This record gives sequence, structure tokens and C-alpha cells, in this order.
Amino acid sequence: MTLPFIDLQDVHKAYNVHRGVFRAGKLLHAVSGVSFRVPEGSTFGLVGESGSGKSTIARMVLGAEAATSGEVRVAGQSVATLDRKQRFQLRRMLQPVLQDPYSSLNPRIRVAAIVDEPLRVHRVTEHGQSLKDRVAQLLEQVGLSAETMRRYPNELSGGQRQRVAIARAISINPRCLVLDEPVSALDVSIQAQILNLLKDLQERLRLTYLLISHDLAVVSYMSDQIGVLYLGQFMEIASREDIIANARHPYTQALMAAVDSTIGEEVGRVGNAVQGEIPSPLSPPSGCPFHPRCPMAEERCRREKPALRAFGPSHQVACHFAESTR
Ligand SMILES: Nc1ncnc2c1ncn2[C@@H]1O[C@H](COP(=O)(O)OP(=O)(O)OP(=O)(O)O)[C@@H](O)[C@H]1O
Ligand SMILES: [Mg+2]
Repeated sequence: MTLPFIDLQDVHKAYNVHRGVFRAGKLLHAVSGVSFRVPEGSTFGLVGESGSGKSTIARMVLGAEAATSGEVRVAGQSVATLDRKQRFQLRRMLQPVLQDPYSSLNPRIRVAAIVDEPLRVHRVTEHGQSLKDRVAQLLEQVGLSAETMRRYPNELSGGQRQRVAIARAISINPRCLVLDEPVSALDVSIQAQILNLLKDLQERLRLTYLLISHDLAVVSYMSDQIGVLYLGQFMEIASREDIIANARHPYTQALMAAVDSTIGEEVGRVGNAVQGEIPSPLSPPSGCPFHPRCPMAEERCRREKPALRAFGPSHQVACHFAESTR
């Protein structure tokens, strides 16, 4: 059994939201009781609609925000107990790659300075190699010519910019990338190229990935394990194979029906795309959080919140009727 590189145990994150001068603040439960493990060298995909808590989980894993309760462990260490120096060391192991290559790269500095910044911050030098040679090597690793180092971000295409962001992230030899919607801002034709680059780098550099996407096609193309989030809770967690061939939660099935991407193999379609609006996390539904939109909801779903329960060796579902959803 490989040790988990990332390990979340019953993690909650609530934000205090202020609602004007005369109204009391209210707690917004962005993440409610999330547990999962990411074995070293594997990819865990987090999928869910906007506001389901994906980026909040990413920020807690990166140590950028503290959990309200529960435990976030990275490389065996509890992130909450780290001091400044340890947090800096954590950032060396764990690098983020964010959605929008247009806004995550400073437009006024050249690619060379963007890529070598983490090297300078973390004072990493490869023995006998100049910073310039290292940058050229990193650019080559992500499929860009060494000449790219003299360019500015606005001279590059979206796909090239995301390659630069990836070169920057791998510059200090991290063990894990936290990829938050890494291809959402790109044309569909470019998405597969970037995903294939990430797969290739993972194998060559033995990286662990926490991959976030609202697109189940992206997540199922890339991931070993998949967690389906809804209003800050897991509806289903399973191996990629079980999600593709045996999804049991009506919400997972609805996400599958909505996939219209051409990435990777087709995911099996059952059920219809999800109808209606996501409820406000400030006033979540009673019982099962998905019941107001669920085509299979019964009285029990309004009253009783289903526990996330084992459905198979690598499969957990939070649905009272998981046995009869397909
Ligand atoms: N700093 C904050 N203060 C108050 N509420 C917040 C804060 N950050 C996030 N939230 C709320 O927490 C919930 C989860 O947000 P989060 O950004 O994690 O969702 P997401 O799944 O990443 O969505 P998206 O797909 O739009 O990026 C949302 O309801 C959001 O409005
Ligand atoms: Mg997000």
C-alpha cells in the first residue's frame, strides 16, 4: 500500500459572511466533512459544479487557508501545525497551477523571469547548471522552445501560457501539483494537449496530482480516483473505472449526461443532465443536499441525510437508493 501524499479527515470549512449593517453575520459552509486520500504518484480528481467547494479544498491543501475543523495532512504532516519555515518547505513540495493563464502570469515580466522565480525564491540551483540553462530545459520539458524565455505572456497563446505556468510549477522539483481548473480557459482542441503534457510529466517526474475540474470528461480522462462534490460534500467517491462504468449517485449520473467533450474515451451515459439551480450554501436543503434537484428523490431524502457508505472496495456513495439507481 502506497502512503497517501494528501490525506483529509473530516475537513470542514465555514466562512463568516457579513450581510449588511443591520443583519447578523451567517456561516457559509463551503466544505462539510470531506475525507479523502491521494496516494503518492496518483491523480485524485475533484469534480462538481461552481460553488461546490473545490477551490476551498485546494486552498486548504496548499496551506493558504486553515480548515475550520478536521485534519489536512500533506506528506505525513498536519498542515495546521506547521510553522513559517515548514510552510515554506511545504510550498516547495506542493505547487499550484491555476485556471487562467491570462491572469496568473504577470504580463510585465518575461517568461524567463516567470519560470525562474520559484528557483530564486527557494534558492534551488542544479549543480553546474546556470539559471538560463535550467529555464531552457524546463521550457523544453513542457514543449516550448528555449527562445520562448525572451517573450512576454501576451505574445503567447493560451496553451503556451499554460505550458509556461506548468514549467514554473515544476521548476523546483515539487512532489505534487494542485491543478485548479488547469484547462477550463482553453479551447477544447488545446485542452487535450495540455492534459497529455500533464500525464507525461507525471510519469517522468513521479508527481502526485490533485486535479480540479467542473468537467467530468477532464477528470475521468486524468484521474485514478474521483470525488464528486455537491454543496461541500462528497456524493460519490470511486475509482475512475467505477465512475465511468458504475456511477451510482444520481448527481454523478447527471454530470455524465452533461459531458459533451471530446477528451479521452466516452463516459457512459445514464440519466439526464441536472435540472434546476444549485441551492445557496447559506440555506442548504434538509436531508440529502441534492434532493431538490434529484429525479429519484423520495420523502426519506428530504428528512434524512444519507451517509457516505461503501458500495464496493473502491467505491463510496451518499445515496439512500444507490442499489437501485441504474
Ligand atoms: N473567502 C470566502 N468568503 C466567503 N465565502 C466564500 C469564500 N471563498 C469561497 N466562498 C464560498 O464557498 C463556496 C465554495 O466556493 P469554492 O470557490 O470553493 O467553489 P468551487 O467549487 O471552486 O467553484 P468554481 O467552480 O466556481 O471555482 C461558495 O459558495 C463560495 O461563495
Ligand atoms: Mg474554484
